[in-house]
Amino acid sequence: MVCFRLSPVPSSGLILFCLVLGVVTFHDRVAVRIPLNEIFRCNSLSTLEDHDVVQNYWNVLVQAFVPNGTVSTKEYLCDKDNTSTTVSPIIHTTVPSPTTIPTPKEKPEIGNYSVSNGNGTCLLATMGLQLNITQDKVSSVININPSTTDFTGSCHSQTALLRLNSSTIKHLDFVFAMKNENRFYLKGVDISMYLANGSVFSIANNNLSYWDAPLGSSYMCNKEQTVSVSGAFQINTFDLRVQPFNVKEGKYSTAEECSADSDLNFLIPVAVGVALGFLIIVVFISYMIGRRKSRTGYQSV
Ligand SMILES: *[C@@H]1O[C@H](CO)[C@@H](O)[C@H](O)[C@H]1NC(C)=O
Ligand SMILES: *[C@@H]1O[C@H](CO)[C@@H](O)[C@H](O)[C@H]1NC(C)=O
Ligand SMILES: *[C@@H]1O[C@H](CO)[C@@H](O)[C@H](O)[C@H]1NC(C)=O
Ligand SMILES: *[C@@H]1O[C@H](CO)[C@@H](O)[C@H](O)[C@H]1NC(C)=O
Repeated sequence: MVCFRLSPVPSSGLILFCLVLGVVTFHDRVAVRIPLNEIFRCNSLSTLEDHDVVQNYWNVLVQAFVPNGTVSTKEYLCDKDNTSTTVSPIIHTTVPSPTTIPTPKEKPEIGNYSVSNGNGTCLLATMGLQLNITQDKVSSVININPSTTDFTGSCHSQTALLRLNSSTIKHLDFVFAMKNENRFYLKGVDISMYLANGSVFSIANNNLSYWDAPLGSSYMCNKEQTVSVSGAFQINTFDLRVQPFNVKEGKYSTAEECSADSDLNFLIPVAVGVALGFLIIVVFISYMIGRRKSRTGYQSV
């Protein structure tokens, strides 16, 4: 516990401003939880009244615990500062609210997900997931953090389900099914999540056709791929590998790669073709120039 003694008015006595591990106590009346390793900032006016003395604080900046001797660069704003900064842009300019500018988003972290039944692991998925919700022509891009995401699911003979959930995602379901008895694919996605403004966004589509591969193999796509669930919701996947059926000994079977990954192999013949075409044009132009030169040569004689 760290305490500051302040006496703003000489006759008013002392104010004890104490910081207990992770909690700031203003005069035992206002308690704010501050994550350790964050610096507390409150530019807004805080008013404390005690009998007939009123104390005003503003521009408060304090870090009570500095574990490794480096003052944190991460600021924890008090509620008042938070509301004044998030509300004001909405009042003055209606378009750029804070959730609408996350365009240069970094790649999501790759998560390992699996589902088990009585016979051990029956579904495996490895992927980085980025959700893209578009409402009123404004897109919010949200990266799923695997370390704060729980997963469950179920495996049946014809279908398999992987369900993710976290504090903001009520559920994000991936439904796999079989196609023609010998292939599998992603058939459905169902999401229900809380948006930044507290409303719930829900959408489901059980008529998709993505991640198609033969049974007994896994589907792999290292390139960024998009699963378009609806006009308002799409999922960008990164370093994807998934096997919803016939998992043996908890390991992936051989991978069937997406066409985007094999684009490079496809590009080589194209490049050779383009080079050959270019060569033919060069030869042809040289031939034309040569002919014209020899013709003018004859005329000058
Ligand atoms: C000190 O801790 C902060 C916050 O945990 C961290 O960002 C910083 O890298 C640490 N510095 C050193 C020198 O360990
Ligand atoms: C996911 O699993 C792979 C293979 O088992 C492993 O190499 C990788 O480190 C795991 N990733 C995470 C984030 O646990
Ligand atoms: C999000 O979706 C919108 C509309 O489909 C699209 O214009 C935008 O490029 C997408 N953003 C990302 C990062 O995928
Ligand atoms: C939350 O924001 C979305 C658009 O981003 C809007 O459609 C919805 O009505 C908002 N909900 C509330 C409760 O303001």
